[in-house]
Amino acid sequence: MLTTLTEVLKTAEASGSAIPAFNIDNIEGTEAIMEAAEAEHWPVILTVGQGAIQAGQLKHLARLVQDIAAGSTVPVVLHLDHGISYEQTVQCLRLGFTSVMYDGSHHPFAENVEESRMVVRSAHAVGVSVECELGAISGVEDGIFHKTVNLVDVDEVRRFVAQVNCDALAVGIGNAHGMYQGTPKFDFNRLEACRQLHTPPLVLHGGSGTPDDMIRKAIQLGIRKVNVATELRMAFMDGLEATVGSRDFYAMYRQAKAGMTAVARQKIHLMRNGESLPPD
Ligand code: 13P
Repeated sequence: MLTTLTEVLKTAEASGSAIPAFNIDNIEGTEAIMEAAEAEHWPVILTVGQGAIQAGQLKHLARLVQDIAAGSTVPVVLHLDHGISYEQTVQCLRLGFTSVMYDGSHHPFAENVEESRMVVRSAHAVGVSVECELGAISGVEDGIFHKTVNLVDVDEVRRFVAQVNCDALAVGIGNAHGMYQGTPKFDFNRLEACRQLHTPPLVLHGGSGTPDDMIRKAIQLGIRKVNVATELRMAFMDGLEATVGSRDFYAMYRQAKAGMTAVARQKIHLMRNGESLPPD
């Protein structure tokens, strides 16, 4: 069934675990992720990102998720990833999203607060959850590569949550979008300091390529939503590449989906109970 981010985060909070947020781009990938979530009996956040929106998929993906969620055995959240403006979040409210992220982290603090408050006010008026962001996540985001390691300012977190009634907060602790070169370095002390401020549930972006023990530790320190995109897309593309020579359209998608489902299951398993599944 379709539900809000707030609802699934309650499940995560109660069990000291996290809910995965996977970016979706097409029907096959969405089906692959749903197969993994249903097999693991765990809620899932299906996230529409700026790449998919630029590709013209916003409305189609919203309808797809609503349709799939209506027949699913696990709670499903239809979520906007890194919303770029108040206007874009309102478009998503109209399309029936149950959660929107407004990412004002690249703006000056006061502007981020002001815009985030507007988004929260509109979204909450229609029962939709809101994720905000502080300390922009580095890496490739919206086609822009951010080289600097962005670490959230803990005092800004304190001031932000006092002014913005958001339902989840993404924080930069050295995480980055895309695959990491080498092992990522996360500032776990900073994460702990944020959590002690009694923030809303915290979100870790850039989950791809993060070693399992680091995800485990982040969850122990209060991360309740972990975003993963690149690793799933790579698994899908590996499947396509391996079978493209066959010229068998459906065999290609079968293999791509199977690879994506396997990676999604590993991530869900880890976030649900801290256990690593052996690779397929
Ligand atoms: P990755 O592509 O690094 O997994 O990051 C996904 C993400 O954080 C989307 O917002």
